[in-house]
Amino acid sequence: MYAQMVKSEATNEDPEKLAAFQARIDAGEKIEPKEWMPEGYRKTLIRQIGQHAHSEIVGQLPEGNWITRAPTLERKAILLAKVQDEAGHGLYLYCAAETLGVSRDELTEALLSGKMKYSSIFNYPTLNWADIGAVGWLVDGAAIMNQVPLQRTSFGPYSRAMIRICKEESFHQRQGYDIMMKMAQGTPEQKAMAQDALNRFWYPSLMMFGPSDKDSVHSAQSMAWKIKINTNDELRQKFVDQTVPQAEYLGLTIPDPDLRWNEEKGGYDFSEPDWSEFFEVIKGNGPCNAERMEARQKAWDDGAWFREGLMAHAAKRAARKIAAE
Ligand code: 3HC
Repeated sequence: MYAQMVKSEATNEDPEKLAAFQARIDAGEKIEPKEWMPEGYRKTLIRQIGQHAHSEIVGQLPEGNWITRAPTLERKAILLAKVQDEAGHGLYLYCAAETLGVSRDELTEALLSGKMKYSSIFNYPTLNWADIGAVGWLVDGAAIMNQVPLQRTSFGPYSRAMIRICKEESFHQRQGYDIMMKMAQGTPEQKAMAQDALNRFWYPSLMMFGPSDKDSVHSAQSMAWKIKINTNDELRQKFVDQTVPQAEYLGLTIPDPDLRWNEEKGGYDFSEPDWSEFFEVIKGNGPCNAERMEARQKAWDDGAWFREGLMAHAAKRAARKIAAE
């Protein structure tokens, strides 16, 4: 069903309607669910919002893994709140996707069958507490860099979901930076753990922005429709420029010998991630892909009795309502 929704080609769309739609986009108007939209626009949104929702949900796993092992009660409460926020983000985004005519169940089935993706970053393991700091600082930092412009995306429900999500993501990034600060100012062993976490999460965080612009399949059309506001490389550059001084403040070193300030462009020159690794990870061959999918499949299977009960209850209520009319 998802494949049918996303892959079938748009046919015979009225050129006048298409031109009027593009004019609304160009004028900065928001598009709302019941309004006419090209099939390609709807499908691109289902793909992007659905993947984004899956990322929020799968993204709970690497951090949820550390809730029971947080070093203090305060850190535990903060991490618990953060992981719960991610669940909320997933739910807003599934709701935004549902306004486009796809159900949450269909999206989940597409994830579990491997037809839909989720962010590459969540296929890397969190090995120790410093990794939780690095995830908050770098992963949520990259997520915000990508998501702040999405508050201005052209589809109303997505844009409104992003406004709320961004507020919470900036708290997430600060808590991560705070963990890194504590570790970097701690014992030499703690500082070494913080450096090691930065070493392992740096390039996977750069990959979150997607392939370089020359390999990005969807950017040109998505930007014309203002589904995306910036290219992948533009956001990656902004992320590097913002993060390098933060690493310097921590006294940590970005693991890139070619990182250099470029006066002329007013930004850093930096090494590209290993794109062959990225493409392997999004094909399902990353370090934790199998584990993440197993966890999602188990949650889906364990929830079957609840979904069935809920549907039976809804059907009974509907039947009672019809009988009463
Ligand atoms: N991980 C997995 N797949 C990725 C990816 C990544 N980091 N980057 C790109 N891809 C995939 C694309 O989905 C596309 O595959 P598809 O055609 O099968 O869908 C392919 O690689 C080519 O990439 P494009 O640049 O053409 O794709 P997009 O135009 O969709 O751009 C994107 C990719 C920048 C990630 C864009 O989809 C986007 O901005 N999405 C919204 C933000 C998002 O999904 N964030 C998730 C990560 S953070 C998070 O959610 C949790 C937070 O709490 C930390």
